[in-house]
Amino acid sequence: MTQPSSQPRAQVAPVAIVLAAGQGTRMKSALPKVLHPVLGRPMVTYPVQAALDAGATQVVVVLGHGREQVAPVLTERFGDRVVFAHQEKQLGTGDAARVGAAAVPDHTGTFLILYGDAAAITSECLSALSKRHEGSSALLSLLTVKSGDATGYGRIIRGSEGSPVDIREQRDCSPEEAALREWNPGVYAVNARFFREAIAQLDTKNAQGELYLTDLVALAAKKSVVADVVWPEEELHGVNDRHELAQRERVMRLRFARKLARSGVSIRDAESTFVDADCEIAPDVTLEPGVHLRGKCTIESGAYIDAGCVLRNVTVRAGAKLLPYTIATDSTIGERAQVGPFSHLRPSSELGADAHVGNFVETKKTRIGKGSKANHLAYLGDGVIGDNVNVGAGTIFCNYDGFAKHVTVLEDGAFIGSDSQIVAPVTVGKDGYVATGTTVTMDVPPGALAIGRSKQANKDGLGIRLREKLRAQAAAAKKK
Ligand code: UD1
Ligand code: CA
Repeated sequence: MTQPSSQPRAQVAPVAIVLAAGQGTRMKSALPKVLHPVLGRPMVTYPVQAALDAGATQVVVVLGHGREQVAPVLTERFGDRVVFAHQEKQLGTGDAARVGAAAVPDHTGTFLILYGDAAAITSECLSALSKRHEGSSALLSLLTVKSGDATGYGRIIRGSEGSPVDIREQRDCSPEEAALREWNPGVYAVNARFFREAIAQLDTKNAQGELYLTDLVALAAKKSVVADVVWPEEELHGVNDRHELAQRERVMRLRFARKLARSGVSIRDAESTFVDADCEIAPDVTLEPGVHLRGKCTIESGAYIDAGCVLRNVTVRAGAKLLPYTIATDSTIGERAQVGPFSHLRPSSELGADAHVGNFVETKKTRIGKGSKANHLAYLGDGVIGDNVNVGAGTIFCNYDGFAKHVTVLEDGAFIGSDSQIVAPVTVGKDGYVATGTTVTMDVPPGALAIGRSKQANKDGLGIRLREKLRAQAAAAKKK
């Protein structure tokens, strides 16, 4: 039955099976385990992506618990490269793999089988396994890990020839087996014909009363050599609880930071910098400590993001500068614009080139044109602000009447004096000038001055007299 290893098998692209039907009880979560985010992407997307990158033409994802939630997430990201199989009862990983294989009954090449909680997996290890498998006569090949803590994992049992002959789950191990340091990360390449025969032979005679996929190793070892590739632990630990999730995410975060740094991004402190996997960062960007880039951020060349900025789905154009503790969501920051410190750009804020938004300025659904400035203490909601507009400190766009939102338009060159309230809907025309402390309730024509404040009166000596009176009152009150 064993083929000479000098004759590699015909190359049919592998089909991958990702097992993701379990509940993930140890996560103690209403969210299915495989949807927990890792660098902003659901965990299960990583093994699927790795399988596709390693050359799988199709990925069958076996779903059970929460499949109505998991399936759309995968379809959105991968389209028809992913198909689903439904495991009704979680009878074990062997049963799950059987269900997966049944979804592709015509496949005759190799199955790459892996688990949906292999969050930190890379395509490199899958490619290495695939290559080893296709270049050997083995009916089954697997990755193994010799470093790190084997606790909780199946142990690799090697035969007298040195190749794997069995995998023993920790709960089924004798003390000698439990002392083995080599463990099973759960990544296999299996001949499809052998798989379909052997999977029917599994039984539930084990501590958990489940059908173990791992029992295929012993069945394969009876018929052929079992090939293995030893791989570093970093990529291969699974996720069973939230502590392990945090550990995997940390590994991936540092891996991503390394990749970004090598592509020309300055990350001053990778340990404290959090960049989600779907962010794109150009060379010559600097990220200071404590920066969080979440969701899908695009940071263009030369942008500088100072300490503590938290951005979600934000585009930062070339050369823009974000000073510390700027918070921005679903927004765009223009070329060479400057934002912060302590600015808050809420959804749909669009800052033009060279715009400035300073401390304690909040914007929402507001466009700010080229070179316009709102440097201090303002609320700008539902605004359309032209180019070269100056918005003074303490300006408020009164956009909400308790029922509806209204738009404030400030045309090019407008000047809004400090402490003005602009009661929308209203327009300040081109080069219009709003005097400090004005409540604007009517449109201001282009070039006009709007001034709406009560006249000041000065009373000679009254300041001193008032102070004396107040002092006497305070002293009398103290004596009582
Ligand atoms: C499994 C392996 C173990 C290996 C470890 C690596 C078996 C029997 N054991 O153990 O040797 O060291 O992974 O992380 O395979 N699943 C289903 N349907 C089921 C049961 C599980 O789809 O009926 C899925 C789960 O959703 C999960 C994956 O299979 O994504 C692994 O299941 P899990 O219970 O985490 O297996 P381990 O006990 O970690
Ligand atoms: Ca697991």
